[in-house]
Amino acid sequence: MGGYGDVQLMREDGKRLDGRAVDEMREVEIKAGILPAAEGSAWVKHGLNIAVVAVYGPMEAHPRRIQRQDRAVLDVRYNMAPFSTSDRIRPGFNRRSREISKVTAEALESVVLVERFPRSKIRVEIEILAAEAGTRCVGITAASVALADAGIPMKDLLVGVASGKIDDIVVLDLDKAEDNYGQADLPMGIMPNTGEIAFLQMDGDLSPEEYELATEYNFKAAHEIHGLMKQALLDSASGGEV
Ligand code: CDP
Repeated sequence: MGGYGDVQLMREDGKRLDGRAVDEMREVEIKAGILPAAEGSAWVKHGLNIAVVAVYGPMEAHPRRIQRQDRAVLDVRYNMAPFSTSDRIRPGFNRRSREISKVTAEALESVVLVERFPRSKIRVEIEILAAEAGTRCVGITAASVALADAGIPMKDLLVGVASGKIDDIVVLDLDKAEDNYGQADLPMGIMPNTGEIAFLQMDGDLSPEEYELATEYNFKAAHEIHGLMKQALLDSASGGEV
């Protein structure tokens, strides 16, 4: 959220700079079971973002201090590949990736039936190959497909989506320019079947009405993406084209 008021992000015709309507998300493609060496995996292209996720486990939790007697822990590592962005800020493991790894683990722990695997851990490796805003959401979507692909029992899938505000207008799924120069960003992790929100962050300010509309957009997008997630898992399970 750069918050520069002088960059115009809405066109005269009411469309956004990339031609999308206010409630239109970027194109999404999902594949499951793409990595033979992992127990579960997924590939998600969301606009220009590309994420690949590998899941391993459940396995005994090491080091011992991370073990929980009554449940599994999710060991999540979110990483942006060095070639994922053209920005000067160096990607790689840093404060931001540590924060995203932590909030992603907490979100996924509320959908995985962790109590079924005491003292174990499930490793989730999220690799962002191309980053164009919204990568924490794409990582969450891809991670939940990879967990399901690994056969890990879950109470629902988790879909990562974001809405925000540009030029005082609430819009679905911010792209890079909108994220950089917009006024607010509201990423969420949504369970499409139960309608619960497992993850929510907010950058910038939204009025209660704007928050409601952004949430409505997020739920609409989550249902669309959920359909693609289920199809990817069906294709992978039937040995179909992935
Ligand atoms: O990716 P997400 O929107 O979840 O997180 P962010 O911290 O709001 O970053 C927004 C975007 O800034 C990323 O998707 C990248 O395109 C870009 N970025 C970057 O180029 N270099 C970084 N070190 C961090 C972010």
